[in-house]
Amino acid sequence: MEFNNLLIEKDADIAIVTINRPKALNALNAETLSELGTAFDALAQDDCVKVIILTGAGDKAFVAGADISFMQNMNAIEGRNFALLGQQVFSKIENLPKPVIAAINGFALGGGCELAMACDIRIASEKGKFGQPEVNLGVIPGFAGTQRLPRLVGKGIAKELLYTGDMFGADVAFRIGLVNKVVPVAELLDSARELAKKIASKGALAIRLCKEAVNEGLEMEVEKAYAHEANLFGLCFATEDQKEGMSAFLEKRAPQFKGK
Ligand code: CAA
Repeated sequence: MEFNNLLIEKDADIAIVTINRPKALNALNAETLSELGTAFDALAQDDCVKVIILTGAGDKAFVAGADISFMQNMNAIEGRNFALLGQQVFSKIENLPKPVIAAINGFALGGGCELAMACDIRIASEKGKFGQPEVNLGVIPGFAGTQRLPRLVGKGIAKELLYTGDMFGADVAFRIGLVNKVVPVAELLDSARELAKKIASKGALAIRLCKEAVNEGLEMEVEKAYAHEANLFGLCFATEDQKEGMSAFLEKRAPQFKGK
């Protein structure tokens, strides 16, 4: 696959997607969003890929937001369509049947913070800088930041961040639960790879069903979510991985999962 704004690299069963517009701090225009959609569709179908890492090119930014030059002269309909495009692509990532880890190497602002929040797990370098600065531009987040931010950090802190547009560092992002961990700059990709490898060594179907149970369950009334979990748990018993995992435990050996 060739893209104008993305690099895709595969290392065993891990794929690394790099947003590659470093001169514009990897800002998201419509073409980049569409390419992300195409790339993630293909990675979802690729049986060799178990975990995906998403990062930004260069040493300054993960993604510094939606592309302001691209948005400047939009009319209301174009603005709505651009938001819908971003939302569709980010929902695809959030609901991809494989885990996606954001490796945040610098600015994750506006649409960049929203993109990171659509990933399953966020690892930031000590240089990570976060924020939803849209109010400084006279707009609101359009790629679902008003919804994902309060779900991750709580309503009160989310509102403060949305109303002030303040930028904050990786230490604060960790404290409020926006990122899972903070690592030195030089260790960011290795740390993401190490986590990806650990996840890739588990049964891929079980990981997929965990993701479904969390994502879908959180949108349900809790008793229904419990029932949904029980159904997905039951489904595990139709897989070879369940038979292998439990046999391996009882035979005191390491399991060989096939993702079947
Ligand atoms: N869109 C387009 N271009 C951007 C950009 C963006 N979001 N962010 C940075 N760039 C460009 C700059 O225009 C500049 O280009 P030129 O060299 O051609 O002038 C280049 O990237 C480097 O940026 P700076 O010179 O500004 O770098 P800096 O280190 O001084 O500052 C920064 C870095 C603090 C991230 C600053 O660039 C900045 O504030 N960027 C905008 C951040 C922002 O407001 N993001 C939210 C966008 S709105 C949004 O995302 C809406 C939504 O939810 C859908």
